[in-house]
Amino acid sequence: MASLRHCRGLWNQFANNNLALKPDRLPFLNNHRVKGNFTLFSRGVQIYKGSGKDWLPTLHVAVTGAAGQIAYSLLPRIANGEMLGEDQPIVLHLLEVPQALSKLQGVVMELEDCAFPLVQGIVATDDLRKGFADVSVALLVGAKPRSQGMERKDLLSSNANIFAEQGKALNEVAAKDLRVFVVGNPANTNAMICAANAPRFNPERFMSMTRLDQNRTQYMVAQKAGCKIPEVDRVVVWGNHSATQYPDITHARIKGESARKVINDEKWIREVMIPKVQQRGAEVIKARGASSAASAAAAIVDHMRDYWHGAGDRWCSVGIPSDGTYGIDEGLWYSVPVMCPGGHYRRILNLPIEEFSASMMEKSRKELVEERDAVRHLIPKEFGEKMYTAKKNSSAASSAAGKKTATSK
Ligand code: NAD
Ligand code: LMR
Repeated sequence: MASLRHCRGLWNQFANNNLALKPDRLPFLNNHRVKGNFTLFSRGVQIYKGSGKDWLPTLHVAVTGAAGQIAYSLLPRIANGEMLGEDQPIVLHLLEVPQALSKLQGVVMELEDCAFPLVQGIVATDDLRKGFADVSVALLVGAKPRSQGMERKDLLSSNANIFAEQGKALNEVAAKDLRVFVVGNPANTNAMICAANAPRFNPERFMSMTRLDQNRTQYMVAQKAGCKIPEVDRVVVWGNHSATQYPDITHARIKGESARKVINDEKWIREVMIPKVQQRGAEVIKARGASSAASAAAAIVDHMRDYWHGAGDRWCSVGIPSDGTYGIDEGLWYSVPVMCPGGHYRRILNLPIEEFSASMMEKSRKELVEERDAVRHLIPKEFGEKMYTAKKNSSAASSAAGKKTATSK
């Protein structure tokens, strides 16, 4: 397994990050060069001891809302290597609001008591600049969840500002190879706000979660067709993580066959499957008295694992900045299908869109425009110009590759 991942990890760390070639951080360089065994510290935490043969540099991973429901399911899975790899050492950066710090201490105690071998250190704080220092992966979960009767966009007034502040802090202190995954609702627009306030980074590095909706759709389709879940592929979730989202199985396959042909029930697709997925979050809240947590944590792990390690030819849906394709305004964080080669994504372009799909996609586009207009005060003016540049770069990359895909790095 010492492989491309190890080489990439080493390169990223040395070229970009907290292990910059400084003698105080790499003491072995002075005395022993890279021969023999060495001990390596990062920010005072011993992150490696050995010969370096199979060494993967430690990654700093931040999770906000770390004392919340989702985090309680999520943190043990990250710490156990299910997301970034069973050989990937990590330092966990857990962020909370001041009033939740004592609860967070309890979570830290439990993580310590799990004795996860991959966890090299835990930073627990309410200070954004301390919490985001040197992080390469930031999972932005911390935000208010909706309660029964609310739509997710009703959370904008309470949550949007959180993501502006977090964007600014990430901009100042995060590692150069930062990737951000926004989960806190309304996730798409929060991702846009965060990216807009972190101008040091390419906006394409900021993603918002619709994987839960993809998983929900995939489960329903497998149930309906009587097949195994991994046999369903190419489900697409378009648009906003909201009741206007469009779970689309036009392009989906079951064991390589057209899912629509296998299911052969358009009425079920339009009148049962689509509304059920659109309303599933509300259904869970009604039944549980709290919003989905274990399934949200599972979706975070699924998406980030696929993104980080690559998902082969499987399609993943994720909210990313629109590059203007599919008639979506440039710079809206709109969920589209992508392929994940490992460490970045490629948009799947030129899919044929039927009239029904186009009208569903348009509803979600309109809603995202409304959300963007409601938070204009949190979006710096220069952001529009930056989006244009990002698009130019990504179109140049895709035409250079002679592919029908756009690439984000
Ligand atoms: P929760 O209330 O159990 O936990 C949220 C935690 O975030 C709390 O501990 C709170 O103190 C903390 N928090 C609030 N503001 C913070 C800030 N500025 N910095 C750091 N921490 C902060 O909620 P939850 O069930 O864990 O859900 C979290 C968010 O995820 C909600 O907005 C929810 O709607 C959203 N969600 C999104 C999806 C999705 O698919 N995108 C799925 C499920 C839930
Ligand atoms: C979900 O889809 O379950 C979450 O976004 C929580 C919610 O508010 O529905």
